[in-house]
Amino acid sequence: MCGIVGYIGKRDVAPLLLEGLQRLEYRGYDSAGVVVTSPKAAGLKMVKAKGRVRDLEARVPKRFAGTTGIAHTRWATHGAPSDENAHPHMDAEGKVAVVHNGIIDNASDLRAKLTAEGVEFLSETDTEVLTHLIARNDADTLEEKVRQSLKLIEGTYGVAVLHADFPDRIVVARNGSPVVLGIGEKEMFVASDVAALVSHTRQVVTLDDGEMATIKADDFRTYTTSGTRTTAEPTTVEWEAESYDMGGHDTYMHKEISEQPDAVDRVLRGRIDERFATVRLGGLNLDAREARTIRRIKILGCGTSYHAGLIGAGLIESLARVPADAEPASEFRYRNPVVDPDTLYIAVSQSGETYDVLAAVQELKRKGARVLGVVNVVGSAIAREADGGMYVHAGPEVCVVSTKCFTNTVVAFALLALHLGRIRDLSVSDGKRIIEGLRRLPEQIQQILQAEAEIKKLADQYADAKSMMFIGRVRGYPVALEASLKLKEISYIHAEAYPASELKHGPLALIEPALPTVAIVPDDDLLEKNRAALEEIKARSGRILAVAHQEQEKADHTVVVPKNEPELDPILMGIPLQLLAYHTALSLGRDIDKPRNLAKSVTVE
Ligand code: F6R
Repeated sequence: MCGIVGYIGKRDVAPLLLEGLQRLEYRGYDSAGVVVTSPKAAGLKMVKAKGRVRDLEARVPKRFAGTTGIAHTRWATHGAPSDENAHPHMDAEGKVAVVHNGIIDNASDLRAKLTAEGVEFLSETDTEVLTHLIARNDADTLEEKVRQSLKLIEGTYGVAVLHADFPDRIVVARNGSPVVLGIGEKEMFVASDVAALVSHTRQVVTLDDGEMATIKADDFRTYTTSGTRTTAEPTTVEWEAESYDMGGHDTYMHKEISEQPDAVDRVLRGRIDERFATVRLGGLNLDAREARTIRRIKILGCGTSYHAGLIGAGLIESLARVPADAEPASEFRYRNPVVDPDTLYIAVSQSGETYDVLAAVQELKRKGARVLGVVNVVGSAIAREADGGMYVHAGPEVCVVSTKCFTNTVVAFALLALHLGRIRDLSVSDGKRIIEGLRRLPEQIQQILQAEAEIKKLADQYADAKSMMFIGRVRGYPVALEASLKLKEISYIHAEAYPASELKHGPLALIEPALPTVAIVPDDDLLEKNRAALEEIKARSGRILAVAHQEQEKADHTVVVPKNEPELDPILMGIPLQLLAYHTALSLGRDIDKPRNLAKSVTVE
């Protein structure tokens, strides 16, 4: 992992590839590299650098012309970040160059075998193994060399291969890690993410797992790793190149938090059916009769998407009265889950490429389960693997940490819960009540965003904390979980989230003036219980920042948010806490869009 860009055409390739790498910087990486050639060139030219794309750019020599090339940003898995471990990896003769996302599981065995045959390795990476396999393969065509080499490896890959003897083509392959072809005018692009292509072309072909492609300047063809031709219909990317720009904000995170009123408007657009007080979700592929037979709903996701799933499960239980729960997909897939035919499984993923979620979906499908996807990226692996689902229409999310996709995913779950509820026992008046609540959300989010200056002041006051506690009850608990994750990811302040009801069962021992608590205190039937938790904390001299519908007497500070319907309140209560995490990280001078050790989409185990 993490980012691949390639180009073949007539233009000077190095600047194009560097620009593509810059567009992938958001995914997180620790080193970068580029290799170029051209039909008339004698061999491949390569530059690599630990650090940022600008460090790589500084190393690119004046004479680095070429019209074909591949480039990579690496996020270390095998071997530390270093010049040597950066991709591309070349063989000793400098004929083959490979960039690779994913993990080769049998790399050590293959490395031992190749070493015994006299191959000298220059890096600690798993990818270099594949380079040598291709270089040593004696098939006549590059396609066959790559195909036969891939047969020897076990694991996941998105790869792009350049060979000095075949300078008119790039061969790419996908298994578990995304590869997208971009079709231009007498030029072709390849990337692991459309973000790297959209400023040049919006016509793309997304490879399936087990698929390969040969791209030439004016042509491409796709085939399986067993050599059978496949048909690939180009589709048009709906996101514009400008959606990937910062748009006047200092960080992508700030831009994406600010975009939430519009993003929520988009997920609702065209879906509300006033007449029957319900919503229309065409992509679910689940008719009313089938929906009525569902006995249980299991939601699977990772990180922030798992938290969105927890709120989603609560919405489904309260509006549709179907037992529902959420579980980290990364755990689910390893516990040989009992798959029940009456359970509907829902996979949640912003990127649609998270390997743990994809693997859970594949396992469920193999066992005959029905799986829906709640996904942001159109045409992504999970969206394609699922039997149906909903897009959350948040637009591209560039910051490594998720904000607008989280909010839109929760709103998408509210729509799904309403849809299922109205098929089952939710009354027309409750349906109308939820629809009216949903319609109020964009404006209420805007109202919360207007309190940014006040939240910034609070963040400055709490930024000295070494650790923070987040508490909430029932609907408020997943909000606390997500807010604590956001804070730790970008500020690196340790944070814990607990159900407020659990305080006295242990965590109360931590409370002291140096450990502030952020409490979610909606004005609902649990208000008094939540207030009691605040009393318990205050009695131990803990500082409290409440997010509530009215000033909280026991809190040192309260951020007052507008009230919606109780089921929808978690959506609004999360927003000020995104700003709190943002401004805390800002006041600590953190690299907000690229937090340390994290990558945007985790396409490896
Ligand atoms: C946190 C964050 C991650 C992702 C997780 C799953 O801010 O963004 O926790 O939510 O890695 O990613 P997706 O949603 O792409 O499957």
